[in-house]
This record gives sequence, structure tokens and C-alpha cells, in this order.
Amino acid sequence: MQTIKKYVEANTQRFLDELVELLRFPSVSADPKYKGDVQKAAEYVAQKLRDAGADNVEICPTAGHPIVYGEKIIDPAKPTVLVYGHYDVQPPDPLELWETPPFEPTIRDGKIFARGACDDKGQFYMHVKAFELMQATDTLACNIKFMIEGEEEVGSDNLGIFVKANKQRLAADVVLISDTAMISLETPSLETGLRGLSYLEVEVTGPNRDLHSGVYGGAVANPITILAKMIASLHDENNHITIPGFYDDVVELDAAEREALNAAPFDESEYKSDLGIKALWGEKGYTTIERTGIRPTLELNGIWGGYIGEGAKTVLPSKAQAKISMRLVPNQDSDKITKLFTDHFKRIAPEYISVKVTPHHGGQPAVTPTDSTAYRAAEKAIEEAFGKKPIPTRGGGSIPIVSLFENELGLKTVLMGFGLDSDNLHSPNEKYDIANYLKGIETIPLFHKYFAELSQQ
Ligand code: BES
Ligand code: MN
Ligand code: MN
Repeated sequence: MQTIKKYVEANTQRFLDELVELLRFPSVSADPKYKGDVQKAAEYVAQKLRDAGADNVEICPTAGHPIVYGEKIIDPAKPTVLVYGHYDVQPPDPLELWETPPFEPTIRDGKIFARGACDDKGQFYMHVKAFELMQATDTLACNIKFMIEGEEEVGSDNLGIFVKANKQRLAADVVLISDTAMISLETPSLETGLRGLSYLEVEVTGPNRDLHSGVYGGAVANPITILAKMIASLHDENNHITIPGFYDDVVELDAAEREALNAAPFDESEYKSDLGIKALWGEKGYTTIERTGIRPTLELNGIWGGYIGEGAKTVLPSKAQAKISMRLVPNQDSDKITKLFTDHFKRIAPEYISVKVTPHHGGQPAVTPTDSTAYRAAEKAIEEAFGKKPIPTRGGGSIPIVSLFENELGLKTVLMGFGLDSDNLHSPNEKYDIANYLKGIETIPLFHKYFAELSQQ
């Protein structure tokens, strides 16, 4: 621990400078206009892996954005850790709400503000620096493989193909990912599950053209009104989702498991005041921790139709549209839920309109074991670095590729995230606390150390 601390202290400024450089690349995977910047970010990551001492570093092309691979095999008899992360980021919009520009990283109050600061550049880069540290201090305890992709934020379709085609190269004992959150530096935690996702777009069409709302209004159903009613009907008065069969496969936790989950510290009034809301909303019978961790949800991500420009235009629009996502919990299947939604939405459509449902990407939920060698190694590493044992929690977000690692590579994952829920992921003013970044770099070598030690026993 002393060696680690000394190395981090001696190199703190450079660790920050390099992260700032990485954050300057607008590697937005969703928008084709950034394709060149995504490529440049991949090249930067590859170079830093080489500089840190990785072998066989390669920028692997895909049908979309490239995957950066690199490895250090010290001894085939030692366990192997496969580090996964993503160098792509979400679009920075709405730009006007950023205090400083998203791709001009700025340090304020000990936090680094930029798109991707926490999700996931700041987090995967801790592994690159921890690897550098272990190489430089000759303390590498496990073999290490890096797979850093550029399409996580758009569904990881090409990573799935890469994984299936490279099973030998990716052979390992565990997947280690820092792309989730912990409660706080004072209350460290480890996420032990991720929700799945089913994402769709719906389009409701009424009359064959936009109409004068005075001439036709009142006689022809307005697609926006109909869509709004259809959407409103998807939750009942207890905020349960009304799609028949939606909850059929949901794994219910027993009383003891729920109690353990709810033992994590949670301050409801702080939560509300941070978000500027007076009351919380959600499925009846469940706490906020449960609603965001172990229960499935249905959310509207966007809704539009008709006239949304300056001033007033009297129009009865021909179409209304919405983007809808459902977060899924263990045992629910993304494809099955997509079909249940589609069938239901078409069934509830009144005859005044027609409905089109288009699925986007999906992902399966995942749970990670808490009784594995790797989990215990993560627990010990955090306990040593933070002075406290981490609490197991369930994360609300999704990393669809985790279930694929299990199915294709037979590997379990450890979600050792150092972000905070308040890091503004996918939102303006995304940030990552420098303290979390440095603490992560200190903790990761301990994981490798304890994973090697515990694997031998
Ligand atoms: N890192 C996040 C997922 C996450 C965030 C997990 C916070 C746990 C806590 C990841 O980059 C992400 O944003 N995933 C998307 C899904 C993807 C298919 C676009 C998500 O959760 O919306
Ligand atoms: Mn992420
Ligand atoms: Mn993300």
C-alpha cells in the first residue's frame, strides 16, 4: 500500500494531465460527424497502453468504431483479469446548459468537468494508470488483458461480434469493470447487478396530412392526444406497469434480501432537494432503492409531434412520436419484453389512428456473484484502500455486454465502480471527483494482488 500511495502521489499531476488530454477528444459514438475523433481517442488509448508496458496492443477495426486491445501475460499459471471499459461518450447536448464546454475539461472544486469524465474515460483510465503503476513498481500479480470499446453508448453491437470471434484471445478468469457508481468515498459500495434494457420508438398516425385545427379539430382524433392517453395507460394508479405478462419473469427478493438492500444509507430529503423535487414517485410497495435497483421500469425518453417552433400555429398534426425504454431486472428477457410491449401497444390503439413500433437496442440484465474469489478480492482491496468494507448494492443502469461475457466467455464480472450518482452521467456538467479517480488508481492494484493471492488458496 505504501508503494502504491507513493507512486500515485509522485505522478498525480501527470495522471490528471493525461485524463484531460483523453477527455478533449469528442468521441461521441452516436453521431457520425465525430467518427474521426472517436478514432483519435482509440489511438490515444492504444498509445497509453503501449507506454504503460502492454504487449500486442492493437486497434481492432469493427463495422463501427474500433476496439482497443492490449495485454500483459506475466505467467500463464497466474490468473488473468480482463479489463473492460469504453472510450466513447454520450452526445453533450444540450450544450447551453454546460458551465464550461464539454470537451474543454475544467477542474473546479476538486472535480474534473467534461463529457465522459466519469462515464467512462475517467474510470477505465484508472486501470491504465494502475497497470502502469504495477509495471513500474514490478508488482503485477495477475495477467491482464484490456478491451476498451468505442460503442458502449450505442449498444455494443460490434463488441458482441468481436467477443464471439476472439474467445481464445479474451480467455480470462474474471472481467473487471469500472463503469458504475459507489455510494461515496465514506461509504464505499460494490454494485452486484445491472438492469437490462428494451428500447423502442413508437409512431402514432391519424389523418393522412396535417389539418387546420379549427376546420377539423373536434371531428378527427388528434394523434398527440391519443398517444398521450396510450402512454398514460401504461402505468396504473399504483404505478405498476400494465403490459400483460410484463412482471411474469421478475425475480422477487425475499424479505432478508430486501432488508439487506435497504440497509444501505439513503437520505430521502437530500435526494429530493438535490433534484429539486417535492415528492418522490414510483411503484407502490417498494422503496426508492428497490425501485431503481431490483424493479423493472418504463420511461418516456422523448415525445414529440405537431408544431414546436416559435409562436403559435394552429394545427392538428398527422403524427405523434415517442421514445420509450424499459429497464429490466434479472430473469426478464429483453426480446420477450420488446415483443410484449409491441403487441400490447398495438392492441390498445383505438381505430382512429395507426401505430408503428420500432425496436432499438436492448440488453439483458445481469447479476454478479458476491461469493466469488473475485468479489472477495474487490472487497478486500476496497477495505484496505478506504478503511471500510464495501456494501453490496444494485445499480439502476445497464451495461448490456456483461451478460454476453458470461454467456460467450463463461466469465463473471466484478463491477468496481468509483463514480457517484451525482456525477451527471449523460447530462450537462458531467464530472468526476479527482479524489475518486486517485482512490481508484490506488484500489485497482490491490484487487490484482488479492485476486492472485485468493486464487491460489
Ligand atoms: N456506465 C453506464 C451504465 C451505468 C451507469 C451503470 C451508472 C450503473 C450506474 C453506461 O455507459 C450506460 O450509460 N449504459 C446505458 C445503456 C446503453 C445500451 C446505452 C444506460 O444504462 O442507459
Ligand atoms: Mn458507461
Ligand atoms: Mn453511459
